[in-house]
Amino acid sequence: MGLLDKHKAYSQAYQTIRDAGADPFNVRFEAVLSPTEGIVNGRRTVLLGTNNYLGLTFDPSCVEASSAAVRAHGTGTTGSRIANGSFGGHVELESAIARFYGRKHAMTFTTGYQANLGILSTLVGRGDHLLLDADSHASLYDGARLGHAEVIRFRHNDPADLRKRLERLKGSPGKQLIVAEGIYSMLGDAAPLKEFADIKREMGAYLLVDEAHSLGVLGERGRGLAEAEGVEDDVDVIVGTFSKSLGAIGGFCVSDLDDFEVMRVICRPYMFTASLPPSVVASTLRALSIVETDQALRQRLMSNAQHFYDGLKALGFQVGPQCNPIVAVAIPDQPRAVAVWKALLDKGVYLNLALPPATPDARPLLRSSVSAAHTVEQLDHVLAAFAEVGEAYGVLDAPLQRASG
Ligand SMILES: Cc1ncc(COP(=O)(O)O)c(C=O)c1O
Repeated sequence: MGLLDKHKAYSQAYQTIRDAGADPFNVRFEAVLSPTEGIVNGRRTVLLGTNNYLGLTFDPSCVEASSAAVRAHGTGTTGSRIANGSFGGHVELESAIARFYGRKHAMTFTTGYQANLGILSTLVGRGDHLLLDADSHASLYDGARLGHAEVIRFRHNDPADLRKRLERLKGSPGKQLIVAEGIYSMLGDAAPLKEFADIKREMGAYLLVDEAHSLGVLGERGRGLAEAEGVEDDVDVIVGTFSKSLGAIGGFCVSDLDDFEVMRVICRPYMFTASLPPSVVASTLRALSIVETDQALRQRLMSNAQHFYDGLKALGFQVGPQCNPIVAVAIPDQPRAVAVWKALLDKGVYLNLALPPATPDARPLLRSSVSAAHTVEQLDHVLAAFAEVGEAYGVLDAPLQRASG
């Protein structure tokens, strides 16, 4: 008996996928040439699985800010902020994020994942209730597990189900925190935030929104779904990440809650890990100012998303319910999902393969993230590849197997 024998079922499932001729969970880029192109298996490949919504990873001013910071302040901080202190850039970045969102407090984390671990496990505690959308990202579920609040899942994007579950809690002690995402990372659909805000107000609950995929993407100023829906005043806490539209790595949380600063000495994923390196802080600061000032980038992103979403739909693919820069195509079964994913890669198109149980409704998904940096020619090349492959594998207009419940 080996130590990892308990994971045999996963090992076998993984091997079955690899037997199809490629490993979708371990793709190697021999080179990354730009936000939208790389070399994979010796072939020039369009990158559509990157979350690089604004294409800022190669923005010359972000690259320059990052290079200047590494030369001035070194490659890393080598410790956590509570033990080893903050660099000037950390404080400057937190002020910039607080200002961007018009909030009193901002706190940065080393990843978006850690921001969710830290915030969800400390905002609510024993005796409180955490109302999580069923399609929440793994980091929100893991944050819930790290804390001690009772976790109640409500049906994805379903205000009636949320209300029902809150009504059942009437009269019980403890606080209630509703958790939703701006744009959901698998299907690209947005939360019905206006309805959630009405319910939150009516029931006296708190509302947290994870704007990981909507920062820089939605809202006139790029602040995300809460801005786009005009409900920022109802959102008590916003979390997000620097790893997507801002093209770096790191996470953050903003809020007007009183005593928020106590989080710095109780939030273990903030306290017990090394802080963001100066190069990342510098490029993120620069990227944030681009988000604030360059509305044309957002318009180009949305126009690309619409072109791609409409193109796939017209070909007969089953796309997600709303057009956003995350464009998901459902494939009826896993063997064909793996085969289609590999056939697209062989044609120079890289996107993400997402398999159940990580997907909603137990459907395998081919998930693309469109960027403002894609050209229409690149997107048309990808659509042509989808057309050929979809036909060859019989996945156009294919009926979807839906999980019950
Ligand atoms: C909704 C959501 N929240 C948080 C995260 C974690 O962010 P990061 O990858 O920057 O740690 C992700 C990552 O994909 C996400 O989709």
